[in-house]
Amino acid sequence: MRSIGAGAYAPLAEAFLALLGSGGKRLRPALALAAYGFYAEPASEKAVAVAAAVETLHNATLVHDDLIDNALVRRGMSTLNAVWNKGATVLAGDYLFARAAGFAAETENVRVVQLFADTLRIICEGELRQLFSARQWRQAKEDYYPRIFAKTASLFAAATRSGAILGGATPEQEQALYDYGHYLGMAFQIVDDILDYSGQEATLGKPVGGDLRQGIVTLPFFYYLQSHAAPEGVIARLQQAGNGRDDQVADVIAAVRTSGAIQQAFAEAQGFGEQAKAALEQLPDGLLRQALAELVDFTLQRRV
Ligand code: IPE
Ligand code: IPE
Ligand code: MG
Ligand code: MG
Repeated sequence: MRSIGAGAYAPLAEAFLALLGSGGKRLRPALALAAYGFYAEPASEKAVAVAAAVETLHNATLVHDDLIDNALVRRGMSTLNAVWNKGATVLAGDYLFARAAGFAAETENVRVVQLFADTLRIICEGELRQLFSARQWRQAKEDYYPRIFAKTASLFAAATRSGAILGGATPEQEQALYDYGHYLGMAFQIVDDILDYSGQEATLGKPVGGDLRQGIVTLPFFYYLQSHAAPEGVIARLQQAGNGRDDQVADVIAAVRTSGAIQQAFAEAQGFGEQAKAALEQLPDGLLRQALAELVDFTLQRRV
């Protein structure tokens, strides 16, 4: 991935090396390599290429996501949109998408390249759905699940599936690894949405409370509204917040945080975690399967 910097226009190279250096959990490449690892060892150049492809695609979506969300900090560092103007940030994200496509092509596997194209399309649609449903406080809870599949779980599932494809998995095992990635990704985004209420910016390395401020309705808020005695009052406060009263939205965030909604949302994340573990039962037992099961627990317990 560091090779992205080589030969790039200097400001771009500098920005990417800083982004890469800021780390992140690198879960998606780990998933791709683990899925591949069931079938072949050690990781081939192609497996490394696919891992680089998913992580580069992830970073590209973050560059655009932080611009869209107007988030100024990520991984404890200033985001590109905090330093560059909008146009430059969009182009830097595009550049990373192009590099991700290049890594995907290095696999020389048409199914993997197709999966990448499909996943990027799905992510874009998910982000657009989210944008256009912002501030619709009464939207249906059922719409939340396809949205988080699109924006997050689809890439987790693409990571495990592409590792399986390159490794030469049977169709059944490829499906099992896809299912695992899908369910893990659902749990991951629900936990992310919980952490946006209950997490600490210093630990997370990114701002908290942003979702509700942006009008993005996530699982904790659905549960909060559902069990509230006077939901119309809550919505009225949020509408005031839209008119520049940030104290109102801060109050609602604090109320969600201390309500039973957090636990209700977490129970759903646990349910997806169980489904992810169940999918693993189709795979050969051993160290890798154990590691993937532990990744489910990490995802549920994470504070970062
Ligand atoms: C952040 O993903 C974006 C979401 C899908 C919630 P990660 O939490 O995996 O980000 P990094 O790469 O570890 O920083
Ligand atoms: C990000 O979701 C999903 C994508 C990057 C496509 P969030 O907006 O919840 O991610 P964070 O919280 O900013 O990391
Ligand atoms: Mg965001
Ligand atoms: Mg988030």
